[in-house]
Amino acid sequence: MKRDKSIELLNRAVNDELSAVHQYMYFHFRCDDMGYELLSELFRRVAIQEMMHVERLAERVLFLKGEVEMIPSHSVAKLTDPEKMLEKAVEMETTTVGDYNQWALECSVALDAASKKLFEQLVEEEEVHQDQFETELDNLGKFGVNYLALQSVERSKNVATTPATSAE
Ligand SMILES: [Fe+2]
Ligand SMILES: [Fe+2]
Repeated sequence: MKRDKSIELLNRAVNDELSAVHQYMYFHFRCDDMGYELLSELFRRVAIQEMMHVERLAERVLFLKGEVEMIPSHSVAKLTDPEKMLEKAVEMETTTVGDYNQWALECSVALDAASKKLFEQLVEEEEVHQDQFETELDNLGKFGVNYLALQSVERSKNVATTPATSAE
């Protein structure tokens, strides 16, 4: 097994995941500030999942006796338009899916089946993120930006009208 190659690829993934955590947390704060509650929550949830990806990648680097490089690969894009945010998120997930597929292959060539498997598992989860962001982008295109605000209004109404006894 060529450990150095795997460690290099795993660390590149750590850097990309850290960038994603920062970017999605920024989008989370911004959406929250604008009152887009559900979109804000989606970015927060995905940011936490990306943080857990950092953890799984870091564990593998340490198992291979490497050092974890905690350096984000990109600085945060300060976008405040929800459509631009979602476009950026879809672009990031698409790039990640492509990279992790490629890096799974490279780990396989380096005879490191466990790192290959980790990248393959992450691909599946990034595809779900990609799909979720694409769906929100589609809805935004169909219904306009008011749709985001209406989602929040609708949710507040539901919370207000739900009897306490039926809460699960
Ligand atoms: Fe991730
Ligand atoms: Fe992701």
